[in-house]
Amino acid sequence: GRIMQDFIDRSIEEIRNKVGNKQALCALSGGVDSSVAAVLVHRAIGNNLTCVFVDHGLLRKYEKEQVERVFRDEFNMNLIVVDAAERFLGKLKGVIDPEHKRKIIGEEFIRVFEEEQKKLEGIEFLVQGTIYPDVIESVKDGKLAVKSHHNVGGLPADVNFELIEPLRELYKDQVREVGKALGISEDIVGRQPFPGPGLGVRCLGEITKEKLDILRDADFIFRDEIKKAGLDKEIWQYFAVLPNIQSVGVIDGERTYCHTIGLRAITTKDAMTAKWYPIPLELLDKISTRITDEVSQVNRVVYDITNKPPATIEWE
Ligand code: XMP
Repeated sequence: GRIMQDFIDRSIEEIRNKVGNKQALCALSGGVDSSVAAVLVHRAIGNNLTCVFVDHGLLRKYEKEQVERVFRDEFNMNLIVVDAAERFLGKLKGVIDPEHKRKIIGEEFIRVFEEEQKKLEGIEFLVQGTIYPDVIESVKDGKLAVKSHHNVGGLPADVNFELIEPLRELYKDQVREVGKALGISEDIVGRQPFPGPGLGVRCLGEITKEKLDILRDADFIFRDEIKKAGLDKEIWQYFAVLPNIQSVGVIDGERTYCHTIGLRAITTKDAMTAKWYPIPLELLDKISTRITDEVSQVNRVVYDITNKPPATIEWE
């Protein structure tokens, strides 16, 4: 409503005053925070903003296409899409430890981003989608770190850059409101959280293109069915994992030896604790059947019924 519009008007003026005719860069992930920050800054300085989206090969199905459609086609923003999948997969070859995966993905992300930044000239500002909980989180950082959270919000502030963080004082709900008021579609502002290392921490064991493709296809079917059933707002986070288990199955009297897919769906307030969500059995049946019918390398589907604690939300 009015308060949001006031916030937007005030922010646009502040950003204009700060940036003037200079250039700004934004690492766009397509997540709620970086998307809203990017569109807000674009409103203020137009083509003086350049966004960089890194495809690390660990994205969900059609994620890159959605970002291109929304930000390049709909909002007419300067968008650079870096296809770095092979580069990331090369670095991740043979790596199985989850924290090691996070470290590699986080560091490589920064390297790719810095290379893009060097190709552009005269950038003086860096846009970040930092929100209020991130500000608090970074204060108490290092206390109970079960997993290190590398994401695009965690880019090291280059000394040459001045930061623009227009969402610093907002909570997630308010960020969504601002996004809506800016005309960003529900597909983006209503998105469930997705970890910075992406499918890298959902593909257990060694990460390969083949396994990622299986996971992507299964995950897409799961999310599609949850959305169709109208449960996407009720469930906080829902996704597929590939536990790196192969088991015996049978199709038309023939023995198969294929992958297992795990399904995870949880509700939570703050992601510190979580409860598994009781998806109706008929729906689980439909999802399982679709996955085994449509993803040829999968012959078994299991449903994760563990709370956090003792489990975590992600499997890695
Ligand atoms: P866990 O698995 O620790 O997850 O219960 C809690 C929330 O954090 C997300 N998550 C991450 N987000 N980088 C991120 O940006 C990460 O490395 C990462 N690991 C977990 C997870 O999706 C859940 O929302």
